[in-house]
Formats: sequence, structure tokens, C-alpha cells
Amino acid sequence: MEKRLSQKTIFLTGAARGIGATCARIFVSQGAKVFLVDRDQVALEALAAELNQAGEVAIPRVLDITNRADVEQAVHSMHEVWGRVDVLINNAGITRDSLTAKMTEEAWDQVIAVNLKGPMICTQAVFPIMKEQQSGVILSASSVSALGNIGQANYAASKSGLIGLTKTWALEFARFGIRVNAVAPGFTATEMVTTIPEEIQAKLVAQIPLRRFATPEEIAKAYTFLASDDASYITGQVLYVDGGLTAGF
Ligand SMILES: NC(=O)c1ccc[n+]([C@@H]2O[C@H](COP(=O)([O-])OP(=O)(O)OC[C@H]3O[C@@H](n4cnc5c(N)ncnc54)[C@H](O)[C@@H]3O)[C@@H](O)[C@H]2O)c1
Repeated sequence: MEKRLSQKTIFLTGAARGIGATCARIFVSQGAKVFLVDRDQVALEALAAELNQAGEVAIPRVLDITNRADVEQAVHSMHEVWGRVDVLINNAGITRDSLTAKMTEEAWDQVIAVNLKGPMICTQAVFPIMKEQQSGVILSASSVSALGNIGQANYAASKSGLIGLTKTWALEFARFGIRVNAVAPGFTATEMVTTIPEEIQAKLVAQIPLRRFATPEEIAKAYTFLASDDASYITGQVLYVDGGLTAGF
């Protein structure tokens, strides 16, 4: 059977660990080449070295996605080397949780900058190339928290903002053959969740109909499907991958 992402070139943010690193491994196993972007140089270069053992399939680039000049330069390099930018995955994201009454302006600004402005910058950087190609896929990491979550006003605003961006980009870019969707993971077993105190983790699991957190692989497979030509008629959608958490909402 042909691999799902054969010949695709993918610009992947937040690639160094968690869902991003798992996406990188699965994308490569499905025939893609990955341009790996993250702020964490050590983890990023280790991942690229691991992936490149079986052939030159990964290029690491250390940058902060809120830096427009660095993002534009990275997209330009990827295009120069591989000649195409088929897929953008806006995966990088952060949390700075606290109740609204106590939330600092700094915590607000940081989360909005990384989770909302960063994807806007990356999308603006790849768009002219995808328009020229008359094809492309843009996927972004939303979250079940987009629907509201105590202690996450900044994060929830950023993740529901991404849904607004996704739908707007889907409408604006469809005529150029570019599909745009979001993946909204539920609680997923990465550092973002495993660092939550254990008693709170147990309470969270009890609310999930499937009674467990997602694995990063389960989220990466949703990205793989939406990035592939199997999803060729899907645009402007949010795919909740949440073990049933939002089914009763
Ligand atoms: N883990 C979950 O339960 C969960 C649930 C819903 C949504 N999400 C979303 O999925 C995405 C990935 O989550 P994760 O759990 O793998 O997170 P993670 O914290 O394990 O990894 C995030 C990666 O993004 C990188 N990063 C952060 N800010 C960056 C920046 N400004 N520039 C470049 N890289 C940056 C980090 O260095 C890290 O490698 C995030 O957008 C997150 O909000 C996660």
C-alpha cells in the first residue's frame, strides 16, 4: 500500500517533543520530509539525527515562532531545499495557567503571542508558496479548552481564536487549492499533562468517557489523515480527538 504522505514536505512547529515529535516520526514513516521547528535546540537536533538515520528526511531549525523574520527565513530555506511546502502544522503551543482574577498581563501576552500570533505568522509565511503551487494543507492545534476551562482564560482564548482563524483561512484560501483544518486534542499524555499533580490527573480521567488520556500517537494520526489526500474534501473543520470528552457538551 502506498504511504499516506508519500513525497509531502511538512513544516512542523513545536517539533522537539510531545505531540510534535510524535507527528514527525509518524509523518516520516508515512513517506514525508519534515522541516522541524522549535525553540529547544538540544531536543530538536537529537530528533533530526534520529530521523535522518534512514535517509535525509529531516531539517531542524531552532527558532521562536513569534519572530516573523526567522519564520520567513526558515520557510524560504525549506522551499529552496525541497522546492515545495505542502503542509504547515501549527503545533507549537504553551500554557501559563491561573484564574482570571490573578492572571498577569505577561501570562496573557505570552500565550496569545505563541498560540495565536505564531500560527498567523507561519501561515502568512507559507501562503504565497502554497498559492503559487495551487495546493497546500494548513493544520493547527486547537484544544478542548477552546470551549472554556477554569484557570485557562488565555489558553482558551488562543485555542478558540485558532478555530476562528482556521475557518477564515479555509474560506480565503480554498480558491487556491489550500485546505485548512484544526485538530482539537483532549488531554494527551505529554509533559503538558503529565506535569499536572496526580490527584488532578485522576479527576480529569474520571471525566473522560474512554477513561484514559490520549497517546501522542492518537493525535498524530489525526494530523496524518487531515494532511493526506484522503482528506481532500475536508476543509474548515475542527476534529475533536478527545475520548468522547466533548460528546455531551
Ligand atoms: N497535551 C495535551 O493534552 C494537549 C491538549 C490539547 C491541545 N494541545 C496542544 O497541542 C500542541 C502540542 O502540545 P504538547 O502537549 O505536545 O506540548 P509540549 O509542551 O509537550 O510541546 C510543545 C513544543 O512546542 C515548543 N514551543 C513552545 N513555544 C514555542 C515557540 N514560541 N516557538 C517554537 N517552539 C515553541 C516547545 O519547545 C515544545 O517542544 C500545543 O499547541 C498544545 O496546546 C495539547
